[in-house]
Amino acid sequence: MNMFTSQHYRRFAQLETPFYYYDLALLEKTLQVADLYASKYGFHIHYALKANANFEILQPIVKAGFGADCVSGNEVKRAVEAGFPPEKIVFAGVGKSDREILIGLSENIFCFNVESIEELQVIDALAAQVGTTARLALRVNPLVEVNTHQYITTGTAENKFGIPPRDFDSLLALLPKLSHLQIVGLHMHIGSQICQMNNFRDACQKFNEIRRWFEQHGLHFAHLNVGGGLGVDYHHPDQNPIADFENYFDTFNRYLERQPGQQVHFELGRALVAQCGSLITRVLYVKQGQTKHFAIVDAGMTELIRPALYQAYHKIELLDPFHGNRSLQTYDIVGPVCESSDFLGKAITLPQLQRGDLLAIRTAGAYGQVMASAYNLRDKVPAIYENQP
Ligand code: LLP
Repeated sequence: MNMFTSQHYRRFAQLETPFYYYDLALLEKTLQVADLYASKYGFHIHYALKANANFEILQPIVKAGFGADCVSGNEVKRAVEAGFPPEKIVFAGVGKSDREILIGLSENIFCFNVESIEELQVIDALAAQVGTTARLALRVNPLVEVNTHQYITTGTAENKFGIPPRDFDSLLALLPKLSHLQIVGLHMHIGSQICQMNNFRDACQKFNEIRRWFEQHGLHFAHLNVGGGLGVDYHHPDQNPIADFENYFDTFNRYLERQPGQQVHFELGRALVAQCGSLITRVLYVKQGQTKHFAIVDAGMTELIRPALYQAYHKIELLDPFHGNRSLQTYDIVGPVCESSDFLGKAITLPQLQRGDLLAIRTAGAYGQVMASAYNLRDKVPAIYENQP
């Protein structure tokens, strides 16, 4: 079923563009399905706020009982403001500043995911300073190749994330000296927009080995956090509006070894919120290039940077219930920003476009609005919400 009907078209035609549109009923349904398959195995989901931190999006996620995965002090604050209980908030990231660590400590969050030995020492010192004990999970790097864009893989040897295996011995030697830390978990995250379950299977197998190694050396973990990364169908948002949570959680259930009582946590962002959001934009001009047609629209990389940054594909559709009799034409859909990389789609075949037409850029709920910028002093992009309770 198509997400947009003629009612949407009539409503949008009255509005100034560009704007983000979110269908909260689809979000609700997605949360239910995710929860259903995670609960089957007693798994816990933390929502990765980095994907979208709008209050209207966070509220149903809080209500669904999910925790929060944050990567900045401001995200921790936002999570608390939105109502996530502090005991369900984790704080990750390679570059936590002292100020941000202190925010996490003062909010008494569940756990910091720690990415280096130096960071362990800094958190210990800050916890000592404020007279508390910090709970930590060690982020390790399972060194698996994943099938996704190079900018969003994180589990390979040469990148900045996680504590590398060569540091494990010195880490163990150091831990007894750090008296304001409590190691509660082991953590990994291998990348994002991963659709092949064998990538997760491989990661589980590596993770099992690492966990066993630590246990053999006397370090036990109450919690295993396996990150996020489940992909969504950018090409067929209407056929597959809900990510394959069933297969995803089943893969972890099969391949992730657990000790009795050990809890398993996930940090999902994209799979929960991508499909409920679209960027709605208007065609400003249609221009004939030497070999191609350009549709210049009023949204660009400042509103949705994924195509420019990752050459990411987003389905683009014309919102006009009466377009049936237009012939087809192939366009580069480009924005108004003064950069050649400012495009939303290349070689997109659509009914012939004209000034004033409305387009929906689909699957933009994750890493869309939250990555918007003010470059060229562009206005902040607003959002509208449908099916708000
Ligand atoms: N946990 C950690 C440690 C992460 O680094 C990330 C995403 C997640 C969880 C959530 O991953 P998800 O379930 O959303 O795949 N801006 C890029 C994606 C960057 C992902 C960064 N880390 C994009 O637009 O594709």
